Order: sequence, then C-alpha cells, then structure tokens
Amino acid sequence: MIRVNPNYSKIQANYLFAEIASRVKAYQAENPGADVIRLGIGDVTRALPAACVEALEKASREMGSDATFRGYGPDYGYAFLREAIARVDFQSRGCDISPDEIFVSDGAKCDTGNFQEIFDGAARVAVPDPVYPVYVDSNVMAGRTGAPTGDGRYAGLVYLDCNAENGFVPDLPSEPVDVAYLCFPNNPTGAVASRERLAAWVDWARATGALILFDAAYEAFIRDPDVPHSIYEIPGAKEVAVEFRSFSKTAGFTGTRCGYCVVPAECRAFDASGAPVPLQPLWKRRQSTKFNGVSYPVQRAAEAALSPEGRAQCRALVDGYLANAALVASRLEAKGFRCTGARNSPYVWFDCGADSWSFFDKLLREAQVVTTPGAGFGRGGAGFIRISAFNSRENVERALDRIDRVL
Ligand code: MLT
Repeated sequence: MIRVNPNYSKIQANYLFAEIASRVKAYQAENPGADVIRLGIGDVTRALPAACVEALEKASREMGSDATFRGYGPDYGYAFLREAIARVDFQSRGCDISPDEIFVSDGAKCDTGNFQEIFDGAARVAVPDPVYPVYVDSNVMAGRTGAPTGDGRYAGLVYLDCNAENGFVPDLPSEPVDVAYLCFPNNPTGAVASRERLAAWVDWARATGALILFDAAYEAFIRDPDVPHSIYEIPGAKEVAVEFRSFSKTAGFTGTRCGYCVVPAECRAFDASGAPVPLQPLWKRRQSTKFNGVSYPVQRAAEAALSPEGRAQCRALVDGYLANAALVASRLEAKGFRCTGARNSPYVWFDCGADSWSFFDKLLREAQVVTTPGAGFGRGGAGFIRISAFNSRENVERALDRIDRVL
C-alpha cells in the first residue's frame, strides 16, 4: 500500500500566499465588481525592462531557425549568463566569485526550498521568526522537525526572534545549530543587516562548523551605501555561506522566472567523521539529476538585465517601487504606526496593534486592499502587517487614501 509522506500532515494546509489568494477570491465572489487593490504578495506589476524584451525576442527568433536553434542548455546555466553575473553582481563589489560558482535556476524560492536536500536529515536548523515560509516548510516536508507546537512553530526547529529590540536582525543562536537561514534585505520585515552583524554571523559559522543560507533576493533595493549587498563582502564567508539571488524583484521576472545560487568552491559541510566535504559537487549532482535548466530566451533576457542599459532600466523600476514604499511608510507613520523596511526594501512592516489576520480582513473588507498578515510569517509576526510596494503609484495612492478612511 502506498503511504503518503507523513511529514506533509504536519504542515499548515495552505501555503501563506495561497491562503490569502483564497480569502481574496471568496471576498470577490461575495462582492462581484469590488475594486480590490493588491499590496499582498510581492509580485511585480511593471513591464519587463526594454533590454530584456529585446533579448527575449531575439533569442526566440534564434530558436525558430535550425541554424541557431538550441536544445538542452548547459546543466548549470549558459556561460554568457554566469560570466555576466560573476562580473556585475560580485566582482564589481570586490567579491571573488567566479562563473563556475554560480548555478542558474528558475528562482530563489526553488533554490531556498531545495538546498536543504543535500544536508543530513538530522541537521539542526535555525530560522528567523518572522520568516519566509519556504525555509520552514521545506524542512518540515523533509522530516527535519517534530510536530507543530500550536503556536505557529514546529518542535525541533531553532527560532531566532526578530523584533523591534534587535532591529529585526536575529541574534546568534544560543544553542547548537548546523544551518541557519538569513534573508537581507529581509522578507517580510524589510530590515537590513549591517556589515558588523553579518561578520558576527560569519565568525559564528566558522567557529561552530555551521553553514549560512543567505537569501539576497531583495539586494537590488539597497540604497544605503554601508549595507552589504552580498554575504561574500564579509571576509571568510566563502567557506561558510551559500547565497541565493533572483531576477524576480530586480528585473520584474516573477512571471519570467530566473534566479541563481552561489556555491563557492571552498564552501563546506562535514561528514559523519567530521571531515570537511565540499558542497559544490553535491549541489551539482542534485541539480543535474532533478533540474534541466532555464530556457535559453530567459537566460538571454537575464543577461540583458545585467547589461549597462538593462541595469539602468532595472534601477528605474526598483526606484519606482522604493518611492511607493517610502510613501506607504510615511503615510502609516503619520497615523502613528511604527514601520520597518521601505528604505532598502519593497516591504513596509508595521505593528498594527491588533490580531494580524483580523486586521488583514478589515483592510480587505472595508478598504478592498490586500495586505499580508504578519502572523502568516510565524509567531514573531503576530500583530504585524506587511504592505508590498509592488504596484503602480496610482494604485498605491488610492490604497493609502482608502486605508486612511478606515483606520
Ligand atoms: C512574498 O510576497 O513574500 C514573495 O513574493 C514570495 C516569493 O517571492 O516567493
């Protein structure tokens, strides 16, 4: 008899954003014609940069001719893209990352969810709280946790509290941990980590034999010159950190799909005898078994996003979303809410002074504005709301006027 994976019975029935989508759908079914403004899931709304569209068109035409057609691409991504990433995203910032340490994928959600497969089933995992749910759920599915504890947490995971007191940047674990997920600029809080705080994490991982999984999907939103864009700006990080990046929020690729992870040659874990084992061959083995790469036109579009023209267009896109975020924060602060994020992030995170699902429902029903309830990101998010700046200026202004009227 075929049995299901029992770990799936531990996880919440719905992924957070699926739950929000179903509540919005139910509301719209009850209120046909309601003009709902979506500031919930961080899904971009502006068109792809022109440089990317041109590259997509050109590459699609190449696929339409026998002479230039391409079948399966190289396992870890085309050299043209891996070289552009290494040069633009890392070497230009003084990070010694080479193209063969870059693994192109269809996005950071998949990579951050999949990477745990190459660790021991008994690895002790630390996550920030609040947290992007993928880090938790993928470890629950893999059997690395016990049962839910009834407060939005799981037995066996180490939760690192992020709150106003520590600036939503987790303190180092006070118990043994083998792998820690970090995300900066943070989803959901929008907080950023200083060089000193990241250096403390790198020192911790080097001293304890742990690994850092560093999600930098929102790196393009950093405008503060002192904030590191990559964990590899911290000396010694290459041995102890894997970094995840995405073109989704940077270049408007949420529907186009392209991201990558960096697994440096010297990045290590350990075997049962305590001998170091390089992670890169394991990740290569995993990817070449389970993944057939990103389409050629999409990789050409990602390459175009890294060209001088594409970078200027991406920066203008991101600047538009950052201006929206600044407006959201200033309007909420004027109403007395304490906000985090917005400055180097598309997200505004604020203490709503109420149960966050009730507050979410109030904004949906009375203002027809979709947000994300902080409790959906874990116990540490209870009482908070996340507003995403990914929408047109006009819609953000309309949403804020409506929120003003109901709060
Ligand atoms: C979010 O809203 O947190 C993100 O869009 C989710 C994601 O990138 O998968």
